[in-house]
Amino acid sequence: MTQDELKRLVAEAALAYVPPGTVIGVGSGSTVNLFIDALARLEGESRIAGAVSSSAASTVRLVARGIPVVDAGDIESLPVCVDGADEIDASGCMIKGGGAALTREKIVADLAERFVCIADGSKLVARLGRFPLPVEVIPMAAAQVTRRFAAMGGRAQRREGVVTDNGGLILDVHGLAIDDPVALETEVNQWPGVVCVGIFARRRATVCLLGTAEGVRTLTF
Ligand code: A5P
Repeated sequence: MTQDELKRLVAEAALAYVPPGTVIGVGSGSTVNLFIDALARLEGESRIAGAVSSSAASTVRLVARGIPVVDAGDIESLPVCVDGADEIDASGCMIKGGGAALTREKIVADLAERFVCIADGSKLVARLGRFPLPVEVIPMAAAQVTRRFAAMGGRAQRREGVVTDNGGLILDVHGLAIDDPVALETEVNQWPGVVCVGIFARRRATVCLLGTAEGVRTLTF
């Protein structure tokens, strides 16, 4: 199976975690795009009432497929959010932000009772950090945050030409071996000017649907 076929497989499988008639959280990325397409094919009572979207791109796709988009401010909680990942480890901790939507993805994840991660099998890793860690920063803080990462052995590079939906910059941090994702997420969260770090460990996945040649592998955490 191709990587796209594996993504389609898990996108379809995620429908089993979607309560009909509810408002759910929807992430961003190529795997989520296939999930949005699958949501749009639901009919009658199986359809969802709407979605809280984690990016401008997902909003456009949801609206184009007739799925109402609900403002996060109008929602107290979501039964589930479905999102992709750039890496996920055996305890459900993830690196996210390859599509620069990490801040809104984390806000949606925080509202959700369950986080269902959908990914092809290549995203499962023994230790997070081979994928450069995305960090959204306020532009004024970029140089100082870069120095802080350098002090811990990381090489932060500005993602050229990218401004987030929130007007922030993205630094991609190479060379980090993330042995304690909760500790690193907690520390970086406290640096002035950091909007969001792409480690999702304090709020990690509750379920991961991995696309493999043998079919969907379900990990629960
Ligand atoms: C978007 O900012 C990311 O967090 C995506 O969820 C992540 O990059 C996975 O994307 P793909 O499904 O395109 O691999």
